[in-house]
This record gives sequence, structure tokens and C-alpha cells, in this order.
Amino acid sequence: MLLGVNIDHVATLRNARGGVEPDTIKAAEVCELNGATSITTHLREDRRHIKDKDVRTLIKTLKTNLNLEMAVTEEMQQIALEIKPHSVCLVPEKRQEITTEGGLDVAGQLDKITKFVKPLVDAGILVSLFIDPTEEQVKASSKTGAQFIEMHTGQYSEKYGTTDEETEFLKLKNSAELARTLGLNVNAGHGLNYENVHRMHEITGLYELNIGHSIISRAIFVGLPQAVKEMKDLVK
Ligand code: PXP
Repeated sequence: MLLGVNIDHVATLRNARGGVEPDTIKAAEVCELNGATSITTHLREDRRHIKDKDVRTLIKTLKTNLNLEMAVTEEMQQIALEIKPHSVCLVPEKRQEITTEGGLDVAGQLDKITKFVKPLVDAGILVSLFIDPTEEQVKASSKTGAQFIEMHTGQYSEKYGTTDEETEFLKLKNSAELARTLGLNVNAGHGLNYENVHRMHEITGLYELNIGHSIISRAIFVGLPQAVKEMKDLVK
């Protein structure tokens, strides 16, 4: 499995003082040097962490791939079509949320998502849909023209180590299997950490994991190179 590192929280820390430290571009470089196969950033509508300038610089400096997380809005589509990241991951976005809560409701807005995906795919951008691991959402995703899904692992992560872990894990495993039979490539992410990530190896054919919070948190204690290396060892 590949490891995409989400560097949003480097920007969160920077923005706490409004200055330039810690440098997001340098952080991305360190992640790449220590095993990240892509760098993920979520350009939110309210620009609470990553800013436009970050994304526009990253696209020029990254040695690996930029995966741009974004809401299904005209503004974000224009930005993606202009800067052409390697991939985009379409996520639901609510202004008041602390982080992305729940997956994108593809089944409930199939026409809208399908129309949104087409120009991106036509521009050569890989499109991934961040969805909850359900049969309904996987089937709908396969009709949109997107090449990837990213399964929301938030529930699995939350229930890890409890009696509900298996139920949540099986949702991921079954959804991944269905997605692959429908011709979709499968990524996963959200809430994954150094303890719970190992079970992702039990899911056949997972392509990439996108992990942010746990890596940036661990970096406070062991440094970013070590935090990325340790996760890379668990993921590869
Ligand atoms: N994937 C998606 C689509 C996300 O929105 C996030 C959080 O920004 C992540 C992965 C990474 O989640 P975490 O920061 O909990 O590792």
C-alpha cells in the first residue's frame, strides 16, 4: 500500500500565529523524503488551514503527487482545472465541522456528482470520491466516471478495540471488494493511526492510505521524518 500524507495540520499550526512557521512546503518535502508517495491537502472553502498559495507552490515543488481534497463547488473545480493536481478527492464540507464528518452522499446526488467529475477526468485528473463504506455509495460511485473511491475509515477508527470494531471493519472490507469488482480503485483514510492501521492489510487491493492527524501529532514527539518513516513501515 502507498502512503499519502495529509499536511493540513502543519498549516493549522502555522495559522495559529499567522506567520510562516512551520513551513508547509518544507514539511511536504520532508514527508516525501521519508516515504510519502503523495501529499494531500484540503483547500477548504473557509481556508482555515491550507491556503491557495500553499497549493500553488506545492504543485510546482512536489517530487511526488499532489492529491487535492475539495468540496463539490464551482470555485474548487475551477482551481483544480487550473492547477491540475495529480488527483482530487471530493469531500462533503460543512463550515462548522472540525474535520470531514461522514462521506460524500454520491447516491443522493448522482447527477450533480457525475457532471462535476467529467471535466476533471477529461482534464487528465484522477478523481476519487470520499464515501462511507456502504453498498449504496459504492454502487453509485461506480456510475460517476470517477476512477477511485476513498473509503471513510472514521467509524472503524473510532470503534477500534471495541466490540463494534469487527462490524465497522467488515463494512470496509466488503465495500472494497464490491468497488474492485465494479472497476474502481480503492483508497482509504480518516482517523487511521499507528495502532489501528494494521488491519488495512486485511483488505485486498487497497491502493493508498491518506493519513494526517496521527502523523503530525506523533511528529511533535519524534520529529516529522521519524513519524512518517514509522507509518510508512506499518503501511508498506
Ligand atoms: N481523507 C480525507 C478525505 C480527509 O478529509 C481526511 C482528513 O482531512 C483524511 C483522509 C485524513 O484524516 P486524518 O487526519 O484523520 O488522518
